[in-house]
Amino acid sequence: MTRTKNRGQYDLGYHITPPKGLLNDPNGLVQFKGVYHVFYQWNQNDTTHNTKSWGHVTSTDLVHWTEQPVALEPVDWFDKNGCYSGSAIAFENKLYLFYTGNVRNGLNERESYQCLAVSEDGIHFEKKGPILNQPKGYTAHIRDPKVWQGKNNDWWMVLGAQKEELTGDALVYHSDNLMDWILKGSLLDEEFDFGFMWECPDLVQFNQKSAFIFSPQGLLAKGDEFNNLYHSGYLTGVFTEAGKFLIDQQPFKELDRGFEFYAPQTFQDDKGRQILFGWMGVMEPEVEAAVPTVQDGWIHNLTIPRELKYSDGQLKQQPVAELRQLRQGSPLIMEGKAEASLQLPTFQNEILVEWRKTAGSFKLQIRKNSSIEYDARLNRVEVSRLNWLTGKRETRAVTLKNPLTQLHLFLESSSLELFVNKGEEVFSLRYFPEPEAKTMDISACETGKEPHITLYTLEN
Ligand code: FRU
Repeated sequence: MTRTKNRGQYDLGYHITPPKGLLNDPNGLVQFKGVYHVFYQWNQNDTTHNTKSWGHVTSTDLVHWTEQPVALEPVDWFDKNGCYSGSAIAFENKLYLFYTGNVRNGLNERESYQCLAVSEDGIHFEKKGPILNQPKGYTAHIRDPKVWQGKNNDWWMVLGAQKEELTGDALVYHSDNLMDWILKGSLLDEEFDFGFMWECPDLVQFNQKSAFIFSPQGLLAKGDEFNNLYHSGYLTGVFTEAGKFLIDQQPFKELDRGFEFYAPQTFQDDKGRQILFGWMGVMEPEVEAAVPTVQDGWIHNLTIPRELKYSDGQLKQQPVAELRQLRQGSPLIMEGKAEASLQLPTFQNEILVEWRKTAGSFKLQIRKNSSIEYDARLNRVEVSRLNWLTGKRETRAVTLKNPLTQLHLFLESSSLELFVNKGEEVFSLRYFPEPEAKTMDISACETGKEPHITLYTLEN
């Protein structure tokens, strides 16, 4: 990546990070004139959640990123306390950014303005100011416009919202020209009581089905679900021309089972793929303040780009094929070992763990910090790590729908993404191992079911 590097032992290579300060949500994902653009929520000044701008990187291959000048800065009356999250549309040689202007008025009350900025070169943006009015019956917690093109050369927008009775909602708007928008109402017709606020809504269309992805706040932990501070997941269903999403009789499903994943956004690229980036991710404030990279002047990263597909009634996430370009030389292969300690040649790795048929129980420990355990009897995957603030071990887990056949890991010096069964489940997390811990250890493997391991070193 063409960007600031060598910022201490926990710096990341192939993940998008801010050059300094704090990064949160991915914004404005788009392919414009062939080039991939990723914008992100960025506090340029320090590693707190104050005044957000839109940081900007571009790429021709989704893997090597070039830093661009900051795209939107909070300097106007309608966004003076933050250019909050939003999306992008490439149309007729122009790039349109839809975002939320966050404002604190003279009484320190919140005001939100849904704004537009336009660019011809994809680098310099002209702000057009607010394009929507505050709707009746909603609080000022209304933000994160996501726009997509309809079937009739028209445009749709979903907006994250909070009703006056302090429940989460998503609103739908319609437009013929990207400038003038008409409110259609709530996206869901039926009562769906689910938390106090819905952030970062997104509607992804597949052939027959759609998925409504959103990040509800205020869900209570329930078994293996909803154990982080806030959550991101989806409902499947069908989006109608009336602007309604008719949900299937299936529960909300979390997109990620790890510790750090929030505010994902998708876009369709020129090849027709639906690609997702998420923020890794929302943390309890005291845990966030203790992240070791704060000492190095930066914090947080986006996930790797993931291709999203709908199959077997659910969404599946797979690392985009372009990431294979990062592989260096021939891989290290290990087979038939029930107990082994593998020296990691570097801290940038891609690791495939596979079984001829289905997996037996095992434990995989990464750099004496994180571990992946599988209980074949329960068909359950458990990921744990040492919390960098408390020093205690903490765990997230999921019971799989199908028997385990493959694990696919993307490791960096402080980031881990685990794709289970080709994206049936994903775990994303940060971890901060001791620098001298350089091994991956396999143990407790069921005899006769030892995995086949392929380890690639990735370009830094
Ligand atoms: C989600 C979020 C968005 C908001 C942005 C502000 O993480 O709270 O709802 O637009 O972050 O940075």
